[in-house]
Amino acid sequence: MSRAKLLVTRRVFPEVLEHLERVFEVQSNPEDEIWSMQALREKAAAMDALFVVTSDRVDETLLQACPRLKMIATGSVGYNHIDLAACSRRGLVVTNTPDVLTEATADMAFALLMATARRITESERWLRQGHWQRWAWDQFLGTDLYGATLGIVGMGRIGSAVARRGHGFGMTLIYANRSRAANEEELGATLVSREELLARADHVVLVLPYSAQTHHIIGAEQLALMKPTATLINIARGGIVDDAALAQALRNGTIAAAGLDVFENEPALHPALLELDNIVMTPHIGSATRSSRLAMAMLAARNLTEFFEGRAPLSAVALPAA
Ligand code: DGY
Repeated sequence: MSRAKLLVTRRVFPEVLEHLERVFEVQSNPEDEIWSMQALREKAAAMDALFVVTSDRVDETLLQACPRLKMIATGSVGYNHIDLAACSRRGLVVTNTPDVLTEATADMAFALLMATARRITESERWLRQGHWQRWAWDQFLGTDLYGATLGIVGMGRIGSAVARRGHGFGMTLIYANRSRAANEEELGATLVSREELLARADHVVLVLPYSAQTHHIIGAEQLALMKPTATLINIARGGIVDDAALAQALRNGTIAAAGLDVFENEPALHPALLELDNIVMTPHIGSATRSSRLAMAMLAARNLTEFFEGRAPLSAVALPAA
């Protein structure tokens, strides 16, 4: 019997490919080329399954080109790059990779928060440029983390992991969320409106999924509510923050600093962000520890092999109607 055909759109760990090759006829991308939408459609056309990442847009046009398709596994917890409604209309299985990246991503929120509030990359750049001649009382004054108020927007798995870290820093924790978090008491965090959070927090961390409803929920109006000493951290998704408005707020001193791991049109950056010193930027590496990335890729692969061997996938976000 011929094996199901799987397209793996990006170069992946060898042990993950080996796992997939036991079940599938795999077409992979060992050169890690970036395919155009047209190229992706052509490669995907004869496939039974796709293993994609967040930069692969899975939309109606792609799905139309793939009449045999049964399943899409994304190697990410976020799935805003997949048109879930279009997948459900076709009865496709869609899976993601929750849990395995939670702690690494929460660590990254704190790494960015510390680098931003304590001006680590800015002062390092200055030092490397040979400017350091003397110590001074007021050199690179930042803002305190210990004892500060941390505002977390989105209290899911990663938001909760960020909150737990906040306890180690003696922080007062407030959060904004669509609904009260079931673990609110354990986290010692208080639910407030998004507006109150922005006004009260010394540091704001965004940890919510991107959707049409969360597009630009942080724009000029919201930034104006924040303290001039505040920092804003985005480890969630580009597009939640209006990057042009943020650049303006950082230039004007509306807020003190920002730490961004994700951008509106990544990998392209808003040019105004590059001109600022009070910003720390990283290339979407929130989950990028070896163990987390391997666990994410392996979970995506296991979702595929479980389903094609006749069992339920481990972490489905869409399943065909029974
Ligand atoms: C995710 O899992 O959604 C991350 O952003 C991908 O790196």
